[in-house]
Amino acid sequence: MADRDLNQYRVEVSRSEDGISAGVRRFVVQLEERMTVLDALFQIQREHDETLSFRCACRVGMCGTCAMSINGVPGLACKTRPKELGKGVLRLAPLPHLPVIRDLVVSLDPFFKQWKEVLPAFRPADANAKTPAVIPASSEFAQAIPRKRDCITCGACFAACGVKATSGEYLGPAALNRAFLRILDPRDGAKKERVERINAERSGVWRCHTQFNCGAVCPKKINLTDTITRLKRGLLFPGRLMR
Ligand code: SF4
Ligand code: FES
Repeated sequence: MADRDLNQYRVEVSRSEDGISAGVRRFVVQLEERMTVLDALFQIQREHDETLSFRCACRVGMCGTCAMSINGVPGLACKTRPKELGKGVLRLAPLPHLPVIRDLVVSLDPFFKQWKEVLPAFRPADANAKTPAVIPASSEFAQAIPRKRDCITCGACFAACGVKATSGEYLGPAALNRAFLRILDPRDGAKKERVERINAERSGVWRCHTQFNCGAVCPKKINLTDTITRLKRGLLFPGRLMR
């Protein structure tokens, strides 16, 4: 069998325990072309330091648990190939603006606190309906939502948001995107409460400064700035959320 084509990387990992920084540790790993940052972390754990902490589950970009800062940009470790970053050095750190539990593992409590604020679960307008609601694929709602529905709650947009960095109250891009989907849904029975929450002065859409960081880092390529802009427009001109 032909030798595998390996590339060498220096990996710098921010370490911490109980919220106290333990500095940066450096490792050298050998990776095949298609291997990912997550593969590099497993290699470090296996061959250099079994105490290194990071989180993952699906390993295929579906669960959102492996989000971290990769060379200064929030992203998924399981979907990022060092080869594509074009450098021989990987700088890995926990997602910013979230409490660090240990090494690369953060608590997503602040993210989900804001997520819950927009009443994320479906609340039917008619809880006693006997027939299932039908949303034709050709309807404006069905056409508008496919990609925006793909959020995996990874927290990357939350961590990348410049406003979120300085305002704990701001709902943040993912929660606003969730609110958008619910508000647009013709079956929604909690529109009034949701609209009040996204329109709140200190936490709602008006805090967004259109920096585009959120959409740039979203692994599901959700155009979050578009979502927030549509929400603003819908608040100013009711009935114009879609356009
Ligand atoms: S909107 Fe994108 S970046 Fe934000 S939590 Fe969802 S998947 Fe992650
Ligand atoms: S491990 Fe599930 S998204 Fe990376």
